[in-house]
Amino acid sequence: MLNLDGRLHDTYRRAVMPLLKRRAVAAYAPHITSAFRRVTTELGGSVDVFPLVRRLVFEISAEILAGIAPRDTEELLEAYIHLQAPRPLGTAEGMRAVQRAVRARHALRAGLLAAARRPGGNRDNAVTRLRALDDRPSDLQIAENLSILLLGGYETTGYLLSRMLWLVARHAELQEQLRLGFQRKDPVGGRSLFDAVFAETARLHPPLAHLPRRSGVDLNWAGHHIPAGSHVFFSVLTAHHDPVLFPEPEKFRIGRFGVGKTEETPPGFALVPFGAGPRICPGVHLATLTSRLITQHFLEAFRMNADSDRYVADVTHNGASISPAGPLTITFSQHRERTSR
Ligand code: HEM
Repeated sequence: MLNLDGRLHDTYRRAVMPLLKRRAVAAYAPHITSAFRRVTTELGGSVDVFPLVRRLVFEISAEILAGIAPRDTEELLEAYIHLQAPRPLGTAEGMRAVQRAVRARHALRAGLLAAARRPGGNRDNAVTRLRALDDRPSDLQIAENLSILLLGGYETTGYLLSRMLWLVARHAELQEQLRLGFQRKDPVGGRSLFDAVFAETARLHPPLAHLPRRSGVDLNWAGHHIPAGSHVFFSVLTAHHDPVLFPEPEKFRIGRFGVGKTEETPPGFALVPFGAGPRICPGVHLATLTSRLITQHFLEAFRMNADSDRYVADVTHNGASISPAGPLTITFSQHRERTSR
């Protein structure tokens, strides 16, 4: 879907959208909670949350969107990671990374084709919705759509959620306020403290930094001529770090958004982590609910602590997606009053 234009893009997008509407997504809460319990059973001590949360989010999206059971996700996730890994040219390690990527591509193709061919029963997911189209796509086309949905879902949400947990773990007072907010059942949409933390994390660390576009018309902009048809990038990262829109842009300041807001509201389209317009991310509700529930479960089960003297920067691998340049280490300890879960 991501790489298509025109009729086929619209058909596939329309087919899967009902699964991703706010109301449909609310029904996935039990899957999200049981994935959290499964993945964090043994959790304690100091842990790099990025791989942990990435796995958790992958299991959730694979089960919900593609009907892939958690026990079958390990090889697929590994394949995505190898495909995204850097391949330094002209080095022995680069060659090994290329070989791993080739094997990963085969594994991914086989795993997603198996998911595309699995009998759907009475499941409602992307496979059954794509199969039901009048002009039924081939198994390979379904597998390709699953590939984009899973990649688009786990990489972005996994990164943003681990960044958010790590930022929260650096601020003990904020952590406690969030925990109390969840206990009080602060509103799910709009005005909760969680929404402000989510928005500020997405501003500071947008998972997709630059969005590709094609100029529809001839354009003169800031002294540059951009002919119609040119490939251009809209930089979400640059917009989110514009000091005119967001004073002291490098600082994590939740006062910019939501409850306890202490600053002027940024103008419309200043905050665009999910893009905008007809290609806006269809997974926004799934990403938000997953992040909200998982944050709530972590805060209910654990006290989290991260070193606030050291900041972990980001690296971009392919110019678009981002990952942390080093471990996002959090030390987890169980709340004294809740030793059993
Ligand atoms: C925090 C999590 C996420 C972020 C920040 C994010 C961000 C984005 C952005 C910026 C775009 C491009 C929009 C544009 O070009 O204007 C996009 C597209 C897309 N996202 Fe997400 N996304 C997230 C989660 C998800 C999830 C959970 C799914 C899975 C359902 C998903 C599936 C997609 C797909 C399929 C597209 C392509 C849409 C199209 O071209 O019509 N994303 N996302």
